[in-house]
Parts: sequence; C-alpha cells; structure tokens
Amino acid sequence: MGYFRKNIEAAAGYVPGYQPKEADVVKLNTNENPYPSSPAVIEAVGKITTEQLRRYPDPLANAFREAAAKVNGVEPENIICCNGGDDLLKIAFTALCDKDRPVAYPVPTYSLYPVLAQLQGCEKIEIPFDDEFNLPGRLASTQAALTIVCNPNAPSGSFIAIEELASLANELKGVLLVDEAYVDFAEDNCVRLTKQFDNLIILRSMSKGYSLAGIRFGYGIAQTNLIEGLQKVRDSYAVDAVAIAAATVAIKDRDYFEQTKKQIKEQRTRLTEKLRELGFTVPDSSSNFMLATCKNCQAREIYDKLVKQNIYVRYFDVPGLDDKLRITVGTEEQNDKLLEALKKIL
Ligand SMILES: Cc1ncc(COP(=O)(O)O)c(C=O)c1O
Repeated sequence: MGYFRKNIEAAAGYVPGYQPKEADVVKLNTNENPYPSSPAVIEAVGKITTEQLRRYPDPLANAFREAAAKVNGVEPENIICCNGGDDLLKIAFTALCDKDRPVAYPVPTYSLYPVLAQLQGCEKIEIPFDDEFNLPGRLASTQAALTIVCNPNAPSGSFIAIEELASLANELKGVLLVDEAYVDFAEDNCVRLTKQFDNLIILRSMSKGYSLAGIRFGYGIAQTNLIEGLQKVRDSYAVDAVAIAAATVAIKDRDYFEQTKKQIKEQRTRLTEKLRELGFTVPDSSSNFMLATCKNCQAREIYDKLVKQNIYVRYFDVPGLDDKLRITVGTEEQNDKLLEALKKIL
C-alpha cells in the first residue's frame, strides 16, 4: 500500500503557467493585470501593525465582506472570503462532491476543475462546447451535484448570457457555481441571480481586475444556506490580516478599478484587431485575454520562438487547443513588443 489515497497517487496535479524569474520579460501567459494595484493597497499594507501580525485575523474577514457586499448590492452574510478563487473551488468540491456526487462542466475550460475532481475522487462529466462556445443544452440534465460554468470562459474569453445561466440554475437539481474570475472585464455578471436561486454560487477573484494575484484573495457570493455550508469546510483563518487589509482597500477604490479596466478593454480591442491583421483568427473576448488561432502557422513553433525573445504567452498541448495561443492583454508597450515579435516570426 502506498502512503497516499489511490486517486492522489494517480493524479498529475495542476500545472500552473510558467512564472519566469527575470524582471525584463513580457509576461502575457497567466492573465495577471498588467497595471499595479491601487496605490491605497501599498499604503494599507505599510500600516499593518506587529499586533495585527501577532494575533489571528478576523476569521470571517468582515471588513472585506462589508465592502464587497456594498459593491455587489448584497449583504455581508452572502459573502465568503477565501485564499484566492482556487480555494473556493476546492472548498466547493470538498463540500459538494464525492464518488456518488459528480461534477459537470463544459469543455474546454479552466484546467483546474478536472484536477480537483480527481483529488476529490468524484466522477467528472465533461460536455464539449460547440465551436462558438454556446452553453451545451445537455449540461442541465447530468444530475451532477456540482455544475461549473466559467463565465467569461477560460481559455476562450467567450461569454454566456446571464438569462441562459438563470435557466440552467432553474433546471439543475444540484448546485451551479459560476466562475466569474474574469467578470471584471465583461459587460454583465450573475450577481442579481443570487437573490433568485438558492443553488447558485458565484466565484470572484481579486487577482485579475484588482491586480492582487500575489496576495491570494478571492470570494464567493451566494444565499446564506450555501455560504454556511461552505464555511464549514473552509480553513478557520483562510485569509490573513495583510490580505484582508489589501483586498478591502482595493475593492473600495472604485475610480482606480474603473480606470485600469478601461485601459485593459482599450488594449484588448487594439490587440485583437492587430492579431487579426497578422492573420490570426481571434474571437471577441469578454476577458483580459484572448484565444488566437494560428491559421497558416504552427502555434507551438510560434510559442517557442516567442520564449526565445523573453515573451511568454500560453500554449496548451491538448486536442482542440494545440493550434491556438492564449494571450493576456498587456500594457500598450508589452502588446507592441509581442506584435513586433510576431510580425518578424510570421
Ligand atoms: C477561470 C479561473 N478561475 C479561478 C481562478 C482562480 O484565481 P485566483 O485563485 O488567483 O483568485 C483562475 C486563475 O487563473 C481562473 O483562471
């Protein structure tokens, strides 16, 4: 007998995007925000006292819950704070899935979902999207305990209308988790549906829209029946004092958030157009990244040649994605460097 449970022995684990050590790289591979976080964040982190470090943090992170509740038009009781959105996913799998309680999700999507299914030892029901990334009708009838829809989806950047997600929540017997890690760059979101459905959890991340991937802070929005169940599974001190202080001032600084979001959307439009001019097929994206299909070239080859120039994008060596590059929207300067390099390679 090995030391680990069978499914842990068998698991390969999640492989995160490459994190280069050098500072002078163009890093467009893990969908970070290219702009710094609000100046209020560094100020708040600088004001952390040794007393705050000595003591355990507020277990529920109420300062953040209150601020996030105001922003989202819900009550603090409807919010659960986690150590990044990934932590909320893990909590949801632990709380809702086991060998008799499967998870279902459309594919291709965020590659962490199958990894968590394997770690939890639950069956995964993967239903392919069509070529236009429409919501597969079959998703409503799987009998899964947990159904996940990533919206905007990764890696496609596509967006499913909120009314369709409302119909799905209505039809499902189990829980619907809408992964809105990238929703800050979209035109709509699901939060109004949480008032209507007691089987809906929304995942939010502070990593993307608020430039805080380094501190690890995410949160969920749901009715209190779900929040209370998830709370049982969560670490009692899931978010630390520094992260609470940083995330709270970041979500409160609405002007800064709106300003950086506008810049990213402008760059997204520009980068999409320029990539299309270079011959890539690029569907419109509702996210801070885009999926570019290489029509008359090899995506892998382009990826390798970009790496040699210290430019990192994401390449997925899996069927259906191996002719594509997922490119995070960078600053104007970063995008120009990428476009210049691509022009030469092509
Ligand atoms: C689709 C999706 N969901 C959730 C997350 C989790 O984000 P974080 O744990 O940084 O909040 C990510 C991170 O890349 C993601 O791509």
